Amino acid sequence: MCGIVGYSGSKAVVPLLINGLRKLEYRGYDSAGIAISRGDKIDIFKREGKVDNLAELLGGTEGMSQYKDAHTGIAHTRWATHGPPSTVNSHPHSVPNNRIALVHNGIIENYASLKLRLQGEGREFLSETDTEVLCHLIDSHYSPETGLQEAVIKALKEVHGTFGICCQSVDEPGVLIVARRGSPIVIGLGEDETIVASDASAIINHTRQAIYLDDNDIARVEGGKVEISTLDRRQVQRERAEIDWSEGAAEKSGYEHYMLKEIFEQPEAIRNAIRGRLDHDRGTAILSGLNLTARELVDLHRLLIVGCGTSMNAGLVGEYAVEDFAGMLAEVEQAAEFRYRNPIVNSRDIVLAISQSGETADTLAAVREAKDKGALVAGLVNVVGSTIARETGRGIYLHAGPEISVASTKAFTCQVSVLLMVALKLARSRRFSREEGMKMAREIEQVPELVEQVLGQNDAIAKVAESFVNYRSMFYIGRGYMYPVALEGALKIKEISYIHAEGYNAAELKHGPIALLDEEMPVVALLNDGPGKDKTMGNVAESKARSAPVLGVITTGDEEARAACDWVIEIPASPQYTATITATVALQLFSYHVARLKGCEIDQPRNLAKSVTVE
Ligand code: F6R
Repeated sequence: MCGIVGYSGSKAVVPLLINGLRKLEYRGYDSAGIAISRGDKIDIFKREGKVDNLAELLGGTEGMSQYKDAHTGIAHTRWATHGPPSTVNSHPHSVPNNRIALVHNGIIENYASLKLRLQGEGREFLSETDTEVLCHLIDSHYSPETGLQEAVIKALKEVHGTFGICCQSVDEPGVLIVARRGSPIVIGLGEDETIVASDASAIINHTRQAIYLDDNDIARVEGGKVEISTLDRRQVQRERAEIDWSEGAAEKSGYEHYMLKEIFEQPEAIRNAIRGRLDHDRGTAILSGLNLTARELVDLHRLLIVGCGTSMNAGLVGEYAVEDFAGMLAEVEQAAEFRYRNPIVNSRDIVLAISQSGETADTLAAVREAKDKGALVAGLVNVVGSTIARETGRGIYLHAGPEISVASTKAFTCQVSVLLMVALKLARSRRFSREEGMKMAREIEQVPELVEQVLGQNDAIAKVAESFVNYRSMFYIGRGYMYPVALEGALKIKEISYIHAEGYNAAELKHGPIALLDEEMPVVALLNDGPGKDKTMGNVAESKARSAPVLGVITTGDEEARAACDWVIEIPASPQYTATITATVALQLFSYHVARLKGCEIDQPRNLAKSVTVE
């Protein structure tokens, strides 16, 4: 949530930061702003709305060229928390005379009491934000003699909450001070230049060498020089990491939207997620990042999966597969619920935190809660070096590449692919024979090809989508493995097309929701072959009897299912546990086309942000 980028070096900072903001815009797009050091002053420009509005304010490419002598600056794209989207609430925030400028991602929880105190000292506030309070707090500790870093340290010691910040002062024109607690900061190391950001997508066009700050780290950046210490003023070294995202991974590459690109990247992303992790000879999965011995695997009592949104839906497939194949207790829980309801966890449980971004506040809090309760904790994370990846210390990276579209697609299918391998590994340590393991490994290996077949239906799915643009509400129903798919399908359509949708276990339909069915309420039924299909066919008949139009996701060539529906989307035959992936891809495309036909802002739906770093 909120994107931060800062630069110190010798390049023209304005276009560089604007480009950085464009890469980060998926983190929030309520407003954007930039502060640049120019001689003995800091100039600040900000505007409500997207980065384009800010670029326009700066006079476009031509206008920006007048700032070519500015080489240090900070910039921000906002997802509003305190105070509605507006120019005055936009970052960077500053104090009178722009002596200090600050961008911030996170929430200052005690901002109200700090604000009262600072107002008592005669300070005036222009915005409703917590960030402006932090900026004044830093300023209240600031003097040119002691310097910005010391003022930031003193201020942050008074603050409760989360922050990733980047700030500058007029007295130290080439210097940036960055710090973090709870919100990510990555420092990209260049030759005689440094670019800092809230995630790697803003820096990969400049450098692959990066340092991820730890919580309570503060860094002083000047040109190519980076000095890191803790907020207790202890100098520390943090490991360098190589960012392995390919060139263009964070670009649209000719697709109309990132979401469509990421949907089409799925065969390759899944190949990357499973590469080297299936041992066909022994019929098992190699998941060395879990760091568990064979003995420890057998001794595990329960797998607890925590996550939010799409990641939680993927976790549900994992729960089903682990119980189904490994015969081991598995449960999935929304991360915030897990954290706040005092769950029962013990040292024979393994808690698996699933997160694309690795920064989701509730999932991170669940990780900490599980650790405090003595459980083994592992991460299933996409973003390398992210907080959850580092705090869990063990786990499995997805290798899905950067996911820019706010609505998650390839992360889900890679998460499910990895969870199926976790189920295979646990199954082989328990009740699976070698042959059963080999069969499952083969079936997982086939997934990318099956996904390619679904992508081949893109035009047909776009055609079906045409009939759905005017509906206001929908039901998605499925049983067993298809239940998480129903949840994910409903989540996807509501996120990007703003059609209200609910995912239900098909059996639940009769226990209340059926009251809503009529000709205005279509039902999307997951009818592909597998256990439960016949029963869901019964639910389709009940829906049609109440005049509800039905879209069926069916196995290719299933004429009986086709005849029962008004529209169909076909997916190739496969076991239901892998059909969770193919059926989801079909529904991703369906949601995409409905949203496109409705003219929605697909990559940046209203009110959403890509990584939810606040509770
Ligand atoms: C939906 C979506 C969200 C995220 C959720 C968790 O398309 O993207 O529901 O899945 O916010 O995010 P991560 O996986 O980054 O923890």
